[in-house]
Amino acid sequence: MSRFFVTTPIFYVNAKPHLGHAFTTILADAMTRFHRLMGEECFFLTGTDEHGDKIAKASEEAGQSPKEYADQISGLFRDLGPLLGAKPDHFIRTTDPEHIKCVQKVLQKVYESGDIYFGEYGGHYCFGCERFYTEKELVNGMCPDHKTKPEYIAEKNYFFRMSKYQAWLIEHINQNPDFIRPSRYRNEVLSLLESGALEDLCISRPKSRLTWGIELPFDQNFVCYVWFDALINYVSALNYPRGEKFKKFWPAANHIVAKDILKPHAVFWPTMLKAAGLAPYQSLNVHGYWLVRDTKMSKSLGNVVSPKQMVDAYGISAFRYFLLREMAFGSDASFTEEALVGRLNADLANDLGNLFNRVLSMTHKYFEGKVPSPAAEAEEDAELKRLGRDAMRNFQGHFAEFRTARALESLWELVRALNKYIDTAAPWTLFKNKDKARLGTVMYMLLEHMRKIAVHLWPVMPEASVKMLEQLGCSFDLDKVHLAKEPEVWGLLDSGLAVSPTSNLFPRVDVPEPAPPSAPVPLAASAASVEAPKAKAAEPKQKAPAKPAEAPAGPAESIEFADFQKLDLRVGTVLSAAKHPDADKLLVVQVALGEPEPRQIVAGLADRFSPEDLTGKQVVVVANLAPRKLRGLMSQGMILVAKDTEVTRLLTSAGTVDDGGKVA
Ligand code: MSP
Repeated sequence: MSRFFVTTPIFYVNAKPHLGHAFTTILADAMTRFHRLMGEECFFLTGTDEHGDKIAKASEEAGQSPKEYADQISGLFRDLGPLLGAKPDHFIRTTDPEHIKCVQKVLQKVYESGDIYFGEYGGHYCFGCERFYTEKELVNGMCPDHKTKPEYIAEKNYFFRMSKYQAWLIEHINQNPDFIRPSRYRNEVLSLLESGALEDLCISRPKSRLTWGIELPFDQNFVCYVWFDALINYVSALNYPRGEKFKKFWPAANHIVAKDILKPHAVFWPTMLKAAGLAPYQSLNVHGYWLVRDTKMSKSLGNVVSPKQMVDAYGISAFRYFLLREMAFGSDASFTEEALVGRLNADLANDLGNLFNRVLSMTHKYFEGKVPSPAAEAEEDAELKRLGRDAMRNFQGHFAEFRTARALESLWELVRALNKYIDTAAPWTLFKNKDKARLGTVMYMLLEHMRKIAVHLWPVMPEASVKMLEQLGCSFDLDKVHLAKEPEVWGLLDSGLAVSPTSNLFPRVDVPEPAPPSAPVPLAASAASVEAPKAKAAEPKQKAPAKPAEAPAGPAESIEFADFQKLDLRVGTVLSAAKHPDADKLLVVQVALGEPEPRQIVAGLADRFSPEDLTGKQVVVVANLAPRKLRGLMSQGMILVAKDTEVTRLLTSAGTVDDGGKVA
């Protein structure tokens, strides 16, 4: 069985976890789950980095001992796993006694082999980075990261002969194209290594200056440099040198870091491993920064987003999906709540949620809620299967290489194709024409593809994936899934399984309240504020991030034409309307949309219109809104209105149009 060992950086305990830490943790969890589904034996490691100046200073400011302080913040990082639906196999702390012993063992070994020596050094020391900078590395005399002036420190210290391994490292990177990826970071490291002689690494701090660290086994007047200590966590957690886990999982290590800590991982760590007589790790996977208005999200800049708040507002699944879908591997990405809500509504509620809702409710309507048996396949079915195979193969190929955004983009080609297939195959017409055989094939094509999609989504949204499978009458069993085979196999969904009547996994949510409009209030088609149910009512985990605006909002952010095209707006005639039996503000409206049966739409219009006001009128309807129950009654669309601060009018066409006519 092949092995996959995945790590996050161990996080400093000088600040609470924010969205940046959450992202790396989610990515590592998703990669672990993906490789587990591919049948590999996996080990997922995360933890906290607790020694060094930074922590000593932060604890002093908090009036606590470094250990007390570290205990507290480390606990917050440990809690990040359950909060994010991530399941690390081990959480390491650099204050763990086993880790300390292991670091001392490695130090002693490298010292005895002659690769650690004592010398005098003067350099520009940045306390933020906890490292010396050379003149060349400074930007206008400042630390390139912290933009602060480093302090010039000259002192006697121990040094690791990193320079000795420079040529070996260049050779190793050249011979292993996937050692550092994506390639831009590999090139960056190669050009750094080829630009001149690598300096040796100062790996000690005199106790006169810092005591909060691991004592050097060969000189009790010094503690170990925090990076030399921290990097060793990747093997100490496996119980190096004799542990079973070490034998199993080293060197199958796939480290995940952001670009801020490229050099320690791409230069210090492989040369340390070489000096200690260990094989280099398998790959270093470098992602970009989450930005807030073009600036890196970081505690020191005070622009951090709390993962807990996002999970509380939108649920774990939507949060994980957004992060993994939005950040192209290696590049920076901007975080805004509006973008998260946009993806939730477009990709999850509209595309995926709608697919599940439509197909499950049709299965109930046409086959008493049981997965039908398929009959002979038509050409369009074969075509759909081909598209599905490609989508799944592409998903797997990209995911294996950490390109989660492209992987999800590929899978969504299948989600959208299935929605289109419904429109073309028109199950309602087959039902009307009593073509049960064809109807069974069409519904089976949909349901089996939905099962495949749900399985592929387990690494990204484990919770939602399990629910989707349950809605399809299946249970999730890791040992029985063979993801690698999914693109090729067909028919794993058993006919006769009972499916749920509805899905409603991803209710739409309101866009967070925008800044107050400065422009005059326009007349806006704004059904969302009267019609869209608050997600909170539909699923307790998700709630609208902000209250709906009372007055119409100003112009919304611009969207692409493709976004507009996703809306299926139709003209229809109101056949009848009645008050909702259980809700004063709702009307239950039957609208003819040129379909075999009228649509039932539950509209929040009762305080502005009586049933008689609507009956016989032509209205504009959002026809592809995911169906959902409102106070117990199914609603299949949304009636649009135009409103200003005083009046609300039905949106209609200037002259009569056939029912089902498109608004374009
Ligand atoms: N303790 C070191 C790592 C030692 S690993 C042997 C450290 N800790 S850290 O707390 O500063 O964490 C840095 C990591 O947090 C980044 O590499 C990344 O994984 C994550 N992120 C922190 N801020 C981030 C963003 N704004 N964007 C993306 N990831 C971010 O460095």
